[in-house]
Amino acid sequence: MAKMWQGRFKKELDSKVNDFNSSISFDSRMFEADIQGSIIHVTMLGKQGIIDEKESKAIAKELSAIYDDILQGKLLFDPNAEDIHMFIEEVLTKRLGDLGKKLHTGRSRNDQVALDLRMYLRKQIDEIAGLVKSLIKVLVAKAEENLHTVMPGYTHLQRAQPITFAHHLMAYVEMFKRDIVRLFNCFELMNECPLGSGALATTTYPVDRDFTAEYLGFEGPMLNSLDGVSDRDYCMELANAIAICMTHMSRLSEEIVLWCSWEFKFIELDDAYSTGSSIMPQKKNPDICELIRGKTGRCAGNLTTLLTMMKGLPLAYNKDMQEDKEAIFDSVDTVKLCLSTLAPMLDTMKVNKENMADAGKKGFINATDCADYLVKKGLAFRDAYKITGSLVALCIDKGVTLDTLPLDDYKQLCDKFDSDIYDAISLEKCVNERSVVGGPAPRAVTDHINKIKATVLKEENEEN
Ligand code: ARG
Repeated sequence: MAKMWQGRFKKELDSKVNDFNSSISFDSRMFEADIQGSIIHVTMLGKQGIIDEKESKAIAKELSAIYDDILQGKLLFDPNAEDIHMFIEEVLTKRLGDLGKKLHTGRSRNDQVALDLRMYLRKQIDEIAGLVKSLIKVLVAKAEENLHTVMPGYTHLQRAQPITFAHHLMAYVEMFKRDIVRLFNCFELMNECPLGSGALATTTYPVDRDFTAEYLGFEGPMLNSLDGVSDRDYCMELANAIAICMTHMSRLSEEIVLWCSWEFKFIELDDAYSTGSSIMPQKKNPDICELIRGKTGRCAGNLTTLLTMMKGLPLAYNKDMQEDKEAIFDSVDTVKLCLSTLAPMLDTMKVNKENMADAGKKGFINATDCADYLVKKGLAFRDAYKITGSLVALCIDKGVTLDTLPLDDYKQLCDKFDSDIYDAISLEKCVNERSVVGGPAPRAVTDHINKIKATVLKEENEEN
């Protein structure tokens, strides 16, 4: 098809260059935003008397028809079109003749693409945030089932102090909670309308930018037209929010990989969410977790792509910016896919409470509490710490734990020990005593869960 911009040219575009230049293979997904934007633009043209009001209505009507035809599969995207914006305009002009050519009055593809991308990404943010919320819901439900499931907490992947599985899962709830805030923060920052910026310097037509901004759901028009067409902060910000959210999913995935290994056996994944090996019949592999971990690299890469793509661009629009879409779309698709796979996988996993408790029993995770016991009996913490260290060494020599070390041995190292030491270092007690805000005690975790239910999960509870 001849190009819309052919007037200045004597030759047709080389077909390979056309392919190189074309973005329709990846920007066609913005068709809804493009058509909505055009309908409001043309309505404004009519209202302002820039084109005849009847003509404006006829164009808007045909744009709606094009939208329906695309939805119903009656109109297919032309892979040779330059981009989705040109494609829709070309179809319109084919259908309406000269009238269709009036749509682009007072507008440029530069403000059009900036508008479409913002509108498309706003919707994606809502969807992603919804999926993060569903994931939080699953984590909270699992936490509620495991308020008393004692397990070792780790530092340096060494058993450190007793916590509960609920406490561990709720740490991720906090991360995902921040992800939602970050996503909506992006939404707010991108919610200004670039339409009317024109190619770079607005237009001489009396366009009403407040009208188009309002009817397209924006807070208002962007206040500088150069910025309007060349700002891609919103892509970088969203790519960043997604990369961080993926990083959280990746860390959780890594823990699940560990937890379902024979070395831990803290959890078992449902068969529907694990895979086998082509050669080793005994294998049950956590491929989903590994893929999420792997795809996190991709999303970090997309952020780097966008930052690097933008860093040397002079104002205003440059074609480099067409590269924004594949990067941000890939991040959007990837995070949605990962969120919607991770949630049901967590929901269906079995928690092996006994193995967690067993792991808690080994590894001296109650040593801090043993030292605290002596502090409560009047010793300075550093002295208590040293005595407990010697006790641990003694236990290792004898092949016992602090719970099974005879009282006489305790007393030999410090006469402050009495038979109540065994109760003081029971893992349940160690957990229950840590009941300050943010702690692992069932009481503290229940408070946390209730806060999350009353805030992040509020609407969902009301709907139920
Ligand atoms: N497909 C282009 C993009 O994605 C649309 C803007 C083109 N504008 C231009 N002046 N060539 O960025």
